[in-house]
Amino acid sequence: MIDFINVTKEYSDTAALSNVSFHIDNGEFVFIVGHSGAGKTTMTKLLLREEKVTEGQILVDGIDVTELSARNIPHYRRKLGMVFQDFRLFKDKTAYENIACIMRAVGTPGREIRNRVPALLRTVAIEDKAKHFPSELSGGEQQRVALARAIANNPDIIIADEPTGNIDPEMSIEIMNLLMRINTLLGKTVIVVTHDLGLVARYGHRVIRLEGGKLDSDISLSGEDSENAVLGGMNNE
Ligand SMILES: Nc1ncnc2c1ncn2[C@@H]1O[C@H](COP(=O)(O)OP(=O)(O)OP(=O)(O)O)[C@@H](O)[C@H]1O
Ligand SMILES: [Mg+2]
Repeated sequence: MIDFINVTKEYSDTAALSNVSFHIDNGEFVFIVGHSGAGKTTMTKLLLREEKVTEGQILVDGIDVTELSARNIPHYRRKLGMVFQDFRLFKDKTAYENIACIMRAVGTPGREIRNRVPALLRTVAIEDKAKHFPSELSGGEQQRVALARAIANNPDIIIADEPTGNIDPEMSIEIMNLLMRINTLLGKTVIVVTHDLGLVARYGHRVIRLEGGKLDSDISLSGEDSENAVLGGMNNE
């Protein structure tokens, strides 16, 4: 469970988030939308404890993220799997090694790594590219490796910040389908930050809209309703 309780984040000269509150249940799939500068990435940074709130409280599965000591942050972060617009793979490592190394980093036994990495690569349908370096993979393929890496250490929550920002529309749908499967089949909580309202309309679910650092709306819709609501809001984008 994730709770933002009256969260305000001020950078030196900017209020990036103002008094934002919401609750996300385990196993939910949530889109976060809003104009550039609305505070979306700030929200993910606060969740990761890369930044600290100015006021308010963030609770994740009962852990008070705002009060975490530096010593406890690495362990807390294992709850979260991150996916970024620019993939952030290690350029000097193969697809296989990109996943294996972060499993090693948390002390996973070698035998388990040798079993699990091929299975993860199969999950994202890229097992034939295991030995490829990022420069030898398309954007969509790199993002699939990044997704496999994000779930490798079995986090409870996946946060994707503009995961389809650098890939073509067809591959975007593929990535979204994978995120949906991670949600439905593995039961992970999935949070997707996106500008792509067409994608949001297509998938529906819950949509939290930030505007100028404030929570503008929080709606749960499905099917045609979501298409109308989201595409209706598109005129303002
Ligand atoms: N480190 C920082 N120092 C100062 N201001 C910052 C910092 N990071 C973000 N901001 C400001 O906070 C506001 C929210 O930024 P944020 O990155 O959260 O927006 P966003 O919704 O992710 O936008 P985009 O869609 O363009 O990625 C912006 O006005 C931004 O300029
Ligand atoms: Mg952003």
